[in-house]
Amino acid sequence: MSELNVTLKVWRQAGPDAAGSFDTIKADGINDEMSFLEMLDVVNERLINLGKEAIVFDHDCREGICGTCSLMINGQAHGPAKGTATCQLHMRKFHDGQEIVIEPFRATAFPVIRDLMVDRSAFDKIVASGGFITAETGGAPDANLTPIPKPVADAAMDAAACIGCGACVAACPNSAANLFTAAKVSHLNLLPQGQAERYGRVEAMVDTMEDFFGSCTNHGECQEACPKEISIDFIALMNKDYLKSKFKNRRMVSRK
Ligand code: FES
Repeated sequence: MSELNVTLKVWRQAGPDAAGSFDTIKADGINDEMSFLEMLDVVNERLINLGKEAIVFDHDCREGICGTCSLMINGQAHGPAKGTATCQLHMRKFHDGQEIVIEPFRATAFPVIRDLMVDRSAFDKIVASGGFITAETGGAPDANLTPIPKPVADAAMDAAACIGCGACVAACPNSAANLFTAAKVSHLNLLPQGQAERYGRVEAMVDTMEDFFGSCTNHGECQEACPKEISIDFIALMNKDYLKSKFKNRRMVSRK
């Protein structure tokens, strides 16, 4: 264990319509075994003890599961460690004396609520438009009653790993949400239980996505930033189903 003295440049913004700016905050004596969010907890305790406003940031599980932590750290969504959410990033990834710039995920569809916290409810609207199945699930059946080839089950699980953090949008120069939407479409569209709404789902979710987010131009930054390392192959799968949906006479999933 060693201790770091770092300088934080933190985005502070009082509300959605307020002008924001960077605050410079010294964070001395930081244990390098702390997570990034624990470092912010320490900084906030010190700010509160000085009678100052704590830095507002989103977090919940702190285990890389919920997707609420969402910081741009030195220009990278979730910081410098690949396949790692902000809550699982450790201070040992930084060096003594380093300046660390911390910003919210920036996208028109993610308005800043306060400081580092953004509103990601546009994602909820995409999921509400088609991210469900209507098959009666009943009681828990034996897993082997619905035979699913292993590669298909693995691909569906890979897509279902999406935690909806928004790093893909923040990293994309177009603020596109294609990787998020593709993951949410694919984990259902690949499985037998998801077939009933397959083409209605993809059409509704892509159309809703386009109401809020920019267009994908294949930069691939989303895949690089994703803390779950979800492949852009899912975008190709989604595009294929979306194209097919335009030719198939299927009932649209209600977008209400
Ligand atoms: S706080 Fe839940 S994923 Fe980071």
